[in-house]
Amino acid sequence: MLNDSFRFTPHITLEFKIGEKDFFIAGESASRVKKTLQQLGMKQEIIKRTAIIIYEAAMNVAIHANHGTLKVYIDPEVISIITEDKGPGIPDIELAMKEGYSTASHEVREMGFGAGMGLPNIKQCSDELDIDTKVGVGTTLKAKICLNNKV
Ligand SMILES: Nc1ncnc2c1ncn2[C@@H]1O[C@H](COP(=O)(O)OP(=O)(O)OP(=O)(O)O)[C@@H](O)[C@H]1O
Ligand SMILES: [Mg+2]
Repeated sequence: MLNDSFRFTPHITLEFKIGEKDFFIAGESASRVKKTLQQLGMKQEIIKRTAIIIYEAAMNVAIHANHGTLKVYIDPEVISIITEDKGPGIPDIELAMKEGYSTASHEVREMGFGAGMGLPNIKQCSDELDIDTKVGVGTTLKAKICLNNKV
């Protein structure tokens, strides 16, 4: 348990490195952040949305990019989830946001991923979503969850 002064002024940064085809880090980082939010007494709904965004965004880096980072900033008013990767980028964001659209390989699909639901889920769980991408360079995804009176 965190001490009381910490609990009432939460400014926490959590960082994770994501390697290519690292299929474990998404789940691991989602549960680490979940635990922190539970200790801070956050609402279950907020914890669930945060965990979904982290899982899907980190999974996308592991599956579709070469490598990257995940940063989670917990502030009194907002939770920010940011993934930055070096990779192929997304040529058509509008298309990528569509339910069911996926470029996942056969191998990845056989592992149970590639339903084309990650980005739509992230969008649904976020209060704000910004994706900045450059083909051949990489992608930065920034999602925000507002906490106003929800803590
Ligand atoms: N970080 C990324 N780098 C490059 N391409 C990406 C990245 N994230 C998403 N994409 C592209 O957007 C598509 C849609 O992503 P989305 O997460 O919705 O589905 P998916 O990852 O293919 O499948 P699922 O998430 O359901 O397992 C991907 O198939 C891929 O082409
Ligand atoms: Mg995905």
